[in-house]
Amino acid sequence: MLSQKTIDIIKSTVPVLEVHGTTITTVFYKNLFEAHPELLNIFNHANQKKGRQQHALANTVLAAAKNIDQLESILPVVKQIAQKHRSLAVKPEHYPIVGEYLLAAIKEVLQEAATEEILQAWGDAYGIIAGVFTSIEKEMYDQASEQEGGWADFKSFTVVKKVPESDVITSFYLKPADGAVIPSFLPGQYVTVRIAIPGERYLFNRQYSLSDAAGKDHFRISVKKERQGSSPDGRVSNYLHDSIQVGDSLDLTVPAGHFTIDLEKRTPVVFLAGGVGITPFMSMVHAVADQTPERDVHFIHAADNGKVQPFRGELTDLAQKLVSYQFSFVYKNPDEQDKQLQNYVKDGYIDKELLSLHVKPEADYYICGPVPFMKALITCLKELGVEPENIHYEFFGPAMAL
Ligand code: HEM
Repeated sequence: MLSQKTIDIIKSTVPVLEVHGTTITTVFYKNLFEAHPELLNIFNHANQKKGRQQHALANTVLAAAKNIDQLESILPVVKQIAQKHRSLAVKPEHYPIVGEYLLAAIKEVLQEAATEEILQAWGDAYGIIAGVFTSIEKEMYDQASEQEGGWADFKSFTVVKKVPESDVITSFYLKPADGAVIPSFLPGQYVTVRIAIPGERYLFNRQYSLSDAAGKDHFRISVKKERQGSSPDGRVSNYLHDSIQVGDSLDLTVPAGHFTIDLEKRTPVVFLAGGVGITPFMSMVHAVADQTPERDVHFIHAADNGKVQPFRGELTDLAQKLVSYQFSFVYKNPDEQDKQLQNYVKDGYIDKELLSLHVKPEADYYICGPVPFMKALITCLKELGVEPENIHYEFFGPAMAL
């Protein structure tokens, strides 16, 4: 428990630190990775190289500090972040290292304003916040290793099949190298894939949604080959597409993630996918088809054109399993052949007019795709009278700060 005095110090210094948020984050990462380069085996160094402040760690600590006397109010967000941490094998021993460099960054930025008393208070507060994270993560590690077929950190999988789904998306079918069973997972969850790329000093970690239902003898991930220019963004996806072949190994964590579908529900469900944002919906729609095929399902996909769109055949075939099902897609840049495809509805975007054909008051809406796509659709749905609690969405990439 923190003393009231410590709480008061924390609360009075948060606003000052927030003003310097970016500087603190920059100083923090620079010093952290200089002293502990081994952590680059965990962090997404493409983000770091690009100078993106994607890891909202420092900002989240500040936000948590604001709620230091009522941490239970931020537990849902902590759980969401903890899922990501667990899927990257972040461990309790990492927390003191991060704490040390965060405190040092605060000191460096505030300079003489950072009195011993203030630093002590922040050290205590960080300890409490880190304690909340590590206890939730411990539960998650225990659950991951105790479930049937589960394990704690990374485990070797063999690529048993590689299937091009479109010009830019390829599926990898993965089986445990030790022949063990595949653990169950919730439709919509992701795995972290860790790979060593020849010539690269550190390991790469990337999260990919599972794109097939649970209960199979394999996991399937479907990876978009990102354009690789001067940015290091597409390093992993290009390596997977070009160099990883059937028979090769990939290290995986147990599935994680909170963006899942409630399979107990019987409400109509509308999936709205933009580009490769379709992947988590593949496991969701297959799970619905397997478990509640009577559920009313609408699946709308927005893609650039027919050549880059994945899973057209697979989604069309689901009509044989689902009792009440509509699959449709729109293309931004269709050619004449694309326009003849079965289930093609229009050029351009998913707009309010198209959505209005699928809006039902009791339906649940799932949205995944690029940020502008999601923002536009959330706005449209709200304008069409859909209640916010029926709109579920997942930003690809790091979650925002609290
Ligand atoms: C991701 C907060 C400690 C490693 C994140 C995210 C947040 C966060 C907000 C983004 C979540 C998302 O992408 O969905 C925190 C807080 C911490 C903490 C508040 C301390 C109380 C740590 C520690 C490590 C770590 C000790 C390991 C050294 C990572 C990594 C990611 C991540 C590798 C994925 C993003 C990336 O690779 O850049 N954390 N974190 N975090 N965290 Fe933490």
